[in-house]
Amino acid sequence: MKSKPRLSRFSVSIPSDVVRRFDQVSKARGYGNRSQALADLLRRELVDHQSHADRHEIAGTVTLVYDHHKRNLQAHLTDIQHDHPGLIIAVLHVHLDHHNCMEVLAVRGRAKAVRALADALGTVKGVKHSKLSVTTTGKEFIR
Ligand code: NI
Repeated sequence: MKSKPRLSRFSVSIPSDVVRRFDQVSKARGYGNRSQALADLLRRELVDHQSHADRHEIAGTVTLVYDHHKRNLQAHLTDIQHDHPGLIIAVLHVHLDHHNCMEVLAVRGRAKAVRALADALGTVKGVKHSKLSVTTTGKEFIR
């Protein structure tokens, strides 16, 4: 049986125009009600905070776009991945066009280690863009 979260009711004071605009955005995004939209907003804030807590276990993706014709670049990126064992759980490589490759790494581990890996890859000369996207491992959120 799926466990249901205990709910808390609370009252907050927020400027009316902020609430009005929040309701508009929530509705446009497809939320059924304000509670659901607000709960998701709070979860995003918690995940964001956890991504900066060094020891917290996070999941996420590192996306890299680079020119695979650049000498040694691909080998360098692979070396860095081998230097961070256990963090990378899957890799997707897409040949975007004749020159450009996109690599998406699914990662899981301590926030500090994941950030260090993303920084190491993203700062390699020749990488055109890199982005670490952090999400939760899902263990702490009941929904
Ligand atoms: Ni490629």
